[in-house]
Amino acid sequence: MTKSTPESRKNMRPRTKLVYAGREPQEQFGFVNTPVYRGSTVLFPNVAALEARGSARFRYGTYGNPTTEALEKAWTEIAGAEDTVLAPSGLAAITLALFTALSAGDHVLVTDSAYDPTRYFCDGVLRRMGVETTYYDPLVGAGIEALFRPNTRAVLVEAPGSQSFEMQDIPAIAAVAHARGDACVIMDNTWATPLFFPPHERGVDLAVEAGTKYLSGHSDLLLGMVSANAQWAKPLRKTFHHFSMCAGPEDVFLALRGLRSMELRLREAERQGLALARWLEGRREVLRVLHPALADCPGHAIWKRDFLGSTGLFSVILKPAGKTQVAAMLDGLELFGLGYSWGGFESLVIPFDCRNYRTATTWAPEGPALRFSVGLEDIEDLKEDLDKGFARLRGAI
Ligand SMILES: Cc1ncc(COP(=O)(O)O)c(C=O)c1O
Repeated sequence: MTKSTPESRKNMRPRTKLVYAGREPQEQFGFVNTPVYRGSTVLFPNVAALEARGSARFRYGTYGNPTTEALEKAWTEIAGAEDTVLAPSGLAAITLALFTALSAGDHVLVTDSAYDPTRYFCDGVLRRMGVETTYYDPLVGAGIEALFRPNTRAVLVEAPGSQSFEMQDIPAIAAVAHARGDACVIMDNTWATPLFFPPHERGVDLAVEAGTKYLSGHSDLLLGMVSANAQWAKPLRKTFHHFSMCAGPEDVFLALRGLRSMELRLREAERQGLALARWLEGRREVLRVLHPALADCPGHAIWKRDFLGSTGLFSVILKPAGKTQVAAMLDGLELFGLGYSWGGFESLVIPFDCRNYRTATTWAPEGPALRFSVGLEDIEDLKEDLDKGFARLRGAI
């Protein structure tokens, strides 16, 4: 049995915490991992226990079971949070965080670089519920103060933007939000994860993670987490119970498996991502690489100050080229898949155009934009695949 406890691990490194957090082998007959608990009904030993179910550790499947509890506890520890709830997808986790913080008549500030389905939720459901959204320039920093209204109750930040890679001064934005009526700072922290951006230490109240990406690491599950600081833990759990938007135990089990190796995989994603980004910087077909860990990228200073690492997702702007040339480049790739999720073991690429949804800023790159998610393949094979792709782009083959 392990003697390690959250208390004894407090000053240990994240890598050690990832190995032990959320595991209770003594509760599982000595087996190392918590298995998949499936179930709706929880039986109580007598009427008194049934009536006192509100304070029971487990009371009904939607409220949680030992599998989901293991990941909630582990993520709370990794994120430096007070509590964590799980949702069936990253987007579901974002909506849960927004519903925790907002009521009819409120106003919310959302970064113009937000994951676009977040915007569609704000413009659709939140608007119908009487919540008004203002999109802000991700580079606004402390200047966000000018956008606050008496009824601004939340700010949603995301750094870097998951396609355009702008960085945000989150501590500065959080300081303004907390000074202005204690508005809730919600962050989509999917790119960095708590390992590379400890959200609550930097002023975030509710931190969202799409576990679908780096926690899974294998493109085989959908999951979201919302972690909360002490102030927002109770409202978050209450909202979670109201919506009953709970994650499936099989997906949570796979996520727990991913958790144990997450630091290793992230470090490798960082190494592979930087290697490919630097190679792309040197290509004549590429105008710019958008990767905050590269010294000449706008936002690099913020990344260096606030982040502890970078991951394998970044974008490039190509020199001007037609749509058919870009399609020829991408369609012929052997290793890079064309697909929208990311953070898995396999490399992906997508063309994107933020003009379709930006409202507070202008997205006007000089050429076509591509987003890469770099996987675990040998980097030389990836370069060779892209090298042939660039030849197709140039019309050379
Ligand atoms: C930045 C970001 N946040 C959230 C999500 C949503 O995750 P999910 O696919 O689990 O809903 C995505 C998905 O692509 C994403 O890129």
